[in-house]
Amino acid sequence: MKALVLNKPEGPQSAELTDVELPEPGPGEVRIALKAAALNHRELWVSIGQYPGMQLPSTLGADGAGEVDALGEGVDQSLKGKKVVFYPAANWGDNPDYPAPEFGCLGMPYAGTLAEYICVPADTVVAIPEGFSFAEAAALPLAGLTAWRCLVVKANVKKGDKVLITGIGGGVAGAALSLAVAMGAEVYVTSGSQEKIDEAVAMGAKGGVNYKEEKWGKPLAKMSRGIDVVVDGAPAVSFSQYLRGLNMGARVVIYGPTGGPIFEVNAPEVFFRHATIYGSAMGTPEDFKEMMAFVGEHQLKPVIDKEFTLDQAVDALMYLKNEHQMGKVIVNI
Ligand SMILES: NC(=O)c1ccc[n+]([C@@H]2O[C@H](COP(=O)([O-])OP(=O)(O)OC[C@H]3O[C@@H](n4cnc5c(N)ncnc54)[C@H](OP(=O)(O)O)[C@@H]3O)[C@@H](O)[C@H]2O)c1
Repeated sequence: MKALVLNKPEGPQSAELTDVELPEPGPGEVRIALKAAALNHRELWVSIGQYPGMQLPSTLGADGAGEVDALGEGVDQSLKGKKVVFYPAANWGDNPDYPAPEFGCLGMPYAGTLAEYICVPADTVVAIPEGFSFAEAAALPLAGLTAWRCLVVKANVKKGDKVLITGIGGGVAGAALSLAVAMGAEVYVTSGSQEKIDEAVAMGAKGGVNYKEEKWGKPLAKMSRGIDVVVDGAPAVSFSQYLRGLNMGARVVIYGPTGGPIFEVNAPEVFFRHATIYGSAMGTPEDFKEMMAFVGEHQLKPVIDKEFTLDQAVDALMYLKNEHQMGKVIVNI
């Protein structure tokens, strides 16, 4: 089968479409004939070797959707032929609060979705929600799971909460926007592009500010009159701006290092507000199933920016790298 394999960490162009052995499902596993994969910023970090636990060569890609085409020993026969999406990682372990040391993502260290087939545990697959295409389903797992855990498990977002989401063009940010709006939150966004802010407003956000403008925290505070929850993938360039606009008891959830890994915390601004800063990374298989059920129930179709073929997978990674996207970049297989 064909797979996009990264042999050396020298950027997206160093990944190559390669003939690799067709995987056989082990006990308790299903093999999926992939129809679509979706990209995440993670592939870019992996492609330059900047991801914990690097192991190469690896087939890239964490998100996928397709049809179950083979079953391992002990797997329910009725799964054969089902259209499914699946948990984008493996080995979370028993503690719902944080993952076990063996935890890892599909697409390094485990085999990825930019391939014709993948084997995953049968108990981590979920039926594609009614009315969703393979591409729409593939766009959900990693970004949706990350956003769900930030909003629900960490920040406990409630109806009427004012939620700030940074860098709205990003995949996790876009998922957080549609989930938070469906939960009845009042959502504000940041972006480097006015068009993306306008699109976010069309999707239900209340307003937004351009992070390329100096001191954007002031217009944000004026517009929102206080923020309860922040879902932030770029704290190094955002935290100091929104800090003074946080409400008492605010919850800030950090999930990404865009713009740099280090940010300064003004301690009194945090403790006098009784604010909490959380870190969050992906989530449990149960979080994934709850997110998928919510998305299906509310028919929250993800925003798809652009679609490529497997032959164009490197172009798709370069497109993501250049940050043109508003929503997810898909590779049809
Ligand atoms: N913790 C986890 O489990 C987890 C899961 C997924 C991703 N991540 C990390 O989270 C980050 C985003 O991932 P993704 O896949 O959603 O990314 P993505 O789809 O590649 O989006 C990146 C976005 O970052 C935004 N951005 C760039 N500069 C910014 C700035 N100065 N301030 C605010 N936003 C800025 C841009 O937003 P605009 O286009 O609106 O300007 C851009 O669209 C990455 O670092 C990724 O590794 C973590």
